[in-house]
Amino acid sequence: MTNLPLYRLIVFNLLEINLRSAMVFHCWSPREAYPLAKLMSESGIFAQFIDLQQDPEHLANIHKDYLDSELPKLAVFLDLGCEMAESVTNQSSRARLYNQNLHWLLYDEAGNLTKLSHLFHQANLSLNADVTHASRQEEAQDTFVLRDVYNKGSHLGGQLNVTIDRSLQCNQSHCQVRDYLSDLHLGSKLQHRMDLSSITFRLAALVSVLPINSSEEALLEFLNSDRDAHMDSISRIGYRLILHCQEVLGFKMHYIWCGTWSVQDAFGGAIGMLTNESAEICTTPFVPSWNRLHYVHPMTEQAQFRAVCMFRTPHNAGIKAAVFLEPFMPSVWFAFMALLIFAGVMLWLIFRLERRWMQKCLDFMPSLLSSCLISFGAACIQGSYLMPKSAGGRLAFIAVMLTSFLMYNYYTSIVVAMLLGSPVRSNIRTIQQLADSSLDVGFDTVPFTKTYLVSSPRPDIRSLYKQKVETKRDPNSVWLSPEEGVIKVRDQPGFVYTSEASFMYHFVEKHYLPREISDLNEIKLRPESAVYGMIHLNSTYRQLLTQLQVRMLETGITSKHSRFFSKTKLHTFSNSFVIQVGMEYAAPLFISLLVAYFLALGILLLELSWARWGRRTILTLKL
Ligand SMILES: *[C@@H]1O[C@H](CO)[C@@H](O)[C@H](O)[C@H]1NC(C)=O
Ligand SMILES: *[C@@H]1O[C@H](CO)[C@@H](O)[C@H](O)[C@H]1NC(C)=O
Ligand SMILES: *[C@@H]1O[C@H](CO)[C@@H](O)[C@H](O)[C@H]1NC(C)=O
Ligand SMILES: *[C@@H]1O[C@H](CO)[C@@H](O)[C@H](O)[C@H]1NC(C)=O
Ligand SMILES: *[C@@H]1O[C@H](CO)[C@@H](O)[C@H](O)[C@H]1NC(C)=O
Ligand SMILES: *[C@@H]1O[C@H](CO)[C@@H](O)[C@H](O)[C@H]1NC(C)=O
Repeated sequence: MTNLPLYRLIVFNLLEINLRSAMVFHCWSPREAYPLAKLMSESGIFAQFIDLQQDPEHLANIHKDYLDSELPKLAVFLDLGCEMAESVTNQSSRARLYNQNLHWLLYDEAGNLTKLSHLFHQANLSLNADVTHASRQEEAQDTFVLRDVYNKGSHLGGQLNVTIDRSLQCNQSHCQVRDYLSDLHLGSKLQHRMDLSSITFRLAALVSVLPINSSEEALLEFLNSDRDAHMDSISRIGYRLILHCQEVLGFKMHYIWCGTWSVQDAFGGAIGMLTNESAEICTTPFVPSWNRLHYVHPMTEQAQFRAVCMFRTPHNAGIKAAVFLEPFMPSVWFAFMALLIFAGVMLWLIFRLERRWMQKCLDFMPSLLSSCLISFGAACIQGSYLMPKSAGGRLAFIAVMLTSFLMYNYYTSIVVAMLLGSPVRSNIRTIQQLADSSLDVGFDTVPFTKTYLVSSPRPDIRSLYKQKVETKRDPNSVWLSPEEGVIKVRDQPGFVYTSEASFMYHFVEKHYLPREISDLNEIKLRPESAVYGMIHLNSTYRQLLTQLQVRMLETGITSKHSRFFSKTKLHTFSNSFVIQVGMEYAAPLFISLLVAYFLALGILLLELSWARWGRRTILTLKL
């Protein structure tokens, strides 16, 4: 049997890549095919034999009937010598079956390469095609020559490439490599196909800040430039990465300009071009959503997408004495007060003792109130001109002074720490609280913010939209451009503006003082999500481009660009900025001083009138 070496070759070829399911399209008689079936079952390969000489009706839908499998990889053997072979290759090309899921082994007894290129020069072959062409060498019947057949993209200007690989010598029981005829065996298939210089990719290029009918030079100039990094930053990050891919792979690009990301989640705009395969690649990365993932494959994370509501803490424009009372709890204040009064009483007793029993003659005997005043003076770190003369009394006095010294230091350091510490934050922390608050809210004009607000199923977003937009007398007034919005947030504490964070940060850094930055509050409008570079699920360049992008992520090129184009945090110089104690902190002091003066004046008047009344009664008594 002359076919035995061929059968051995087929089995060898499958086992080499550990494939154990195969479709065999042949035109042998059952008797001729039997040894192959036997060989395959001995080697543990599941095979289905399809005779191409049968009724052509059975072969009208090869893709659906035979090759539509759930297996990750299936081997297909096709004998090009059969009459119906062309029909099989034509159908497979139309159904785009030359991809990484099918391992094709074409066999042509005569090795007619003209025929091969006639069959395949227009076929939908692509970069990830796994097609091997085997032919018998004329001089030695047991020697086969294998060729690698691929096209870097037939629909993108690629040419059919048939590269000779190796020759194998097979007998009925054994196969071995005789010669390597090129250096294909040195690397993986993809490595040999990396040079895409003959390919022209269709690139969906997104620019939303310029009119889309501007000249291509103007649009390209914008994408390439470094100025105004906040504009279309996400699209420009992606564009930079595509340029790096271009440097490595050498493909050409045909730009298709568009001005919107998407119209309906996965359709329309730039993502629409990816999902309906009218473009291979897209400059802008996208948030992977459930609907989109049915069509596209996320390659690597390129940047963060954070929509936040931003506002300055509204000062409740009044007296804020709390800072000066906060260091101690009320119980501590009361205990301290009680201690001072107790100390005052003790001092008064000491003075009395000294005067009465120890004859340490003071000029006059301080009253109970004066000794309380002395102990209060000690609390305020004030000395006193009245001092006990006895050693015990002095010790007691020193104890009072020491206690108040410690208290005072404790108190001042806490006040200072509080003033230097983090600026006052608002207690509004969730979207629901924001919706229920009395604050005014403004939104960015970009379509995706509006879409999210209007169509989100989240109850807090719905209530925000209902309370802050629909109940407004003029609902259109809530939509503001980012620069207007950010300036309004600065000038009107308590006004809330919602937009993409890195976009707002640009204007915040432009218009705000560090002090104003430090009392900004942020609430997340939607969960923070990353944006991913996307490619169509069935794209033949998916593996190659994903590998490249992963390399760029690993080497930090991606984060370099995303740091340049999108800001993720604000610099507030928190270590060096000066705290100004405003009137809202100092006012209570002045007011309490004023009140004390009025009180003292009142008491003085009271005493005066008391004295006058007393003198008058004495006079009247004398009289
Ligand atoms: C296969 O396709 C080519 C061109 O696409 C056509 O010329 C040829 O007739 C087709 N052959 C069969 C058997 O359908
Ligand atoms: C390539 O595939 C497309 C469908 O994706 C099909 O319309 C076209 O006819 C195919 N081309 C050839 C030459 O088979
Ligand atoms: C090779 O195939 C082509 C087209 O199928 C045919 O015209 C030619 O005669 C064949 N050459 C040989 C040597 O069989
Ligand atoms: C086919 O590929 C090989 C190696 O990748 C290359 O040297 C050769 O020039 C290519 N031929 C054509 C026609 O593209
Ligand atoms: C097949 O070839 C191998 C070595 O190439 C040899 O050892 C073996 O004996 C051969 N078998 C037959 C049946 O010729
Ligand atoms: C672009 O289109 C707008 C209307 O859609 C038009 O007013 C404008 O003149 C066009 N610009 C250019 C450069 O063609």
